[in-house]
Amino acid sequence: MADSNKTATLTFGDTTIDLPMMSPSVGPDVIDISKLYGKAGVFTHDPGFTSTSSCVSTITYIDGEQGELLHRGYPIDQLAEKSHYLEVCYLLLYGELPTATELEDFEYRVTRHTMVHEQMMNFFRGFRRDAHPMAVMVGVVGAMSAFYHDSTDISDPWQREVASIRLIAKMPTIAAMAYKYTIGQPFEYPRNDLDYASNFLRMCFAVPAEDYQVDPILSRAMDRIFTLHADHEQNASTSTVRLASSSGANPFASIAAGIACLWGPAHGGANQACLEMLREIGTVDRIPEFIARAKDKNDPFRLMGFGHRVYKNFDPRAKVMKKSADEVLDLLGIDNNPTLQVAKELEKQALNDPYFAEKKLFPNVDFYSGIILEAMGFPTSMFTPIFALSRTIGWVSQWKEMISDPGLKIGRPRQLYTGETRRDYVDVENR
Ligand code: CMC
Repeated sequence: MADSNKTATLTFGDTTIDLPMMSPSVGPDVIDISKLYGKAGVFTHDPGFTSTSSCVSTITYIDGEQGELLHRGYPIDQLAEKSHYLEVCYLLLYGELPTATELEDFEYRVTRHTMVHEQMMNFFRGFRRDAHPMAVMVGVVGAMSAFYHDSTDISDPWQREVASIRLIAKMPTIAAMAYKYTIGQPFEYPRNDLDYASNFLRMCFAVPAEDYQVDPILSRAMDRIFTLHADHEQNASTSTVRLASSSGANPFASIAAGIACLWGPAHGGANQACLEMLREIGTVDRIPEFIARAKDKNDPFRLMGFGHRVYKNFDPRAKVMKKSADEVLDLLGIDNNPTLQVAKELEKQALNDPYFAEKKLFPNVDFYSGIILEAMGFPTSMFTPIFALSRTIGWVSQWKEMISDPGLKIGRPRQLYTGETRRDYVDVENR
């Protein structure tokens, strides 16, 4: 980021003030309004942050018009094709692609932290068996701060590093345990001889009574899903993590806040909602009915897996995901998957519909991910936990970047108050 020599002039009433502008390395210029209230006594109003930059970051860049997503400058399609999740984790966390030695060391450190404290088993057992795995994850990840006291001091860079590695390493274990608990099967311990994705698959699908061999096709598909969800700049859950931790809250509590935010159907919960919608549509002949509902202003129904606050073009992750869905179903020998057929036809019809074209509504990452996850054997309730475990690296990297900034301030938005002005208390008998 560089201070630009441009300024913006704001005039209202008799007041005119110059506001400094900043230029990013790529993307639109930013007007710095941080001193506006002090100088002019007014606030700006931007609910939903549609025009507001909330931080300076060097991690991820999205060009919504072009449909481009870069992590530390590298395009997501290249990373999905040529890299793998733990290498992308390293890139997001430390800023550069690792050398072979650095990668080996990083993988070693992550792998050695995959087990969770044995007493956490009891914590899981406190939940009802029919709890949604996201509910379990919010609770258990928050509870990590009660188990890992030696990595909660955010002023210590070493503790921050240990907390980061613990979160990346333990999240698959926690997500898999949440799943096993809801289906009443024993927890599977992590296996450090397996890669990150294979280990997760094994912890989800193995049972002690049988041998379990991880299918390399599924493992590669799983890794790609993790990679495609790794980070997405200042989305709702990431902003939640930043805001929660701006008070100095410990990393486990802050990431639990991010998980809670991700769960919503407008955000990470959309993958579950999308597959449920595709199943409800059921057959291609019913698609026009659902498109009509999505366009009807009096019907709250929306096409799940469509639209994005930032992308006004194809979500680049959706492109890779669609290709992956084809590959995975093909490799698994699943012909004529009805959900995939409905998805492809729905995409075609929606893209040819003027409503979706005018509003620039394109399929997003959640549109095809559920089809792959379902083919792999996951129930819909596990889709959002898988998003959460994949996004943990994004949350952790953004948290680390924020905490390392010496100019960190607690996040504290202002408001446009429209309630009652001052009035005197009325005794109950006089109301
Ligand atoms: N189906 C039908 N109409 C839609 C949809 C949709 N999926 N998305 C937006 N619109 C319409 C909306 O009704 C509005 O119309 P109008 O201007 O006439 O009132 C217009 O498009 C703009 O919508 P908005 O809600 O103001 O846009 P937003 O930027 O606030 O919302 C969104 C973005 C992702 C929440 C929204 O597109 C949506 O609800 N999509 C469905 C849920 C979904 O797939 N979410 C996953 C997002 S990607 C993964 C992630 O980030 O977690």
